[in-house]
Amino acid sequence: MNTNTNTTPTTIAVLGAGRVGTTLARGLAAAGHPVTLGVRDPATTQERWADTPDSPHTPVTVTDVPTAIRAAAVVVNATPGDTSLERLTVLRAELAGRILLDVSNATTRTADGMPGGLAYADGSLGERLQLALPETRVVKGLNTMLFSVMAAPAALDVPPTAFLSGDHADAKAVVRDVLRGLGWQDEWIVDLGPIATASGTESMALIVPSLLGAIGFAPFALSLAR
Ligand SMILES: NC(=O)c1ccc[n+]([C@@H]2O[C@H](COP(=O)([O-])OP(=O)(O)OC[C@H]3O[C@@H](n4cnc5c(N)ncnc54)[C@H](OP(=O)(O)O)[C@@H]3O)[C@@H](O)[C@H]2O)c1
Repeated sequence: MNTNTNTTPTTIAVLGAGRVGTTLARGLAAAGHPVTLGVRDPATTQERWADTPDSPHTPVTVTDVPTAIRAAAVVVNATPGDTSLERLTVLRAELAGRILLDVSNATTRTADGMPGGLAYADGSLGERLQLALPETRVVKGLNTMLFSVMAAPAALDVPPTAFLSGDHADAKAVVRDVLRGLGWQDEWIVDLGPIATASGTESMALIVPSLLGAIGFAPFALSLAR
């Protein structure tokens, strides 16, 4: 459990109850944020969530996606990146006024489900989301590491880097504060600039299959050495 409470409590919706979504929902709740998990089938997810041994310590509300978004100031997209644009565009009204932290990678899939190519090779999902959701402040981040590192960055031997891309400085400041609560030190967070810079970090997803082949399934993150 993350005991760092040096963060401002923020209402957060995490969309998607997969590996990333559950890891972040638990980590963010442990950091003291009111967290709502927005999923396709709340009843089934609620049962799964209740089955986990540590659920009494992680008060997370499970509900449908639009309700979760409406309850939040910050929304984390932890759903498949190749279909996120369509899924989130229809939620434009719900997402208006919110910060969208998009941790997804939009890749095509190989037969074994691994990233094979970029879905938006001429840009990025981050840029497309910002264009489709003009009343939402989109921040791209945490997409260059294995899910476990997102909520436990200090567990690696070498400090990881969290790259942020976004057009809105105030939104990136809020995300930075949220990351601090997950254990990210300020010097591990690198603001790359506008949302257009997300094309760089999103393309790094292509390294994942060969990296896991080389090192095995172990926690890793890209890290900026300087
Ligand atoms: N795994 C990693 O280490 C990692 C690292 C960096 C970035 N990412 C990115 O983070 C995102 C989530 O990754 P993940 O590993 O958590 O994926 P995952 O385990 O497959 O979970 C994705 C979740 O998204 C939800 N979802 C909503 N609409 C969906 C749809 N149409 N099809 C399938 N699932 C849908 C599902 O939750 P509900 O059914 O409960 O709604 C599902 O559990 C992806 O974009 C991935 O590229 C992953």
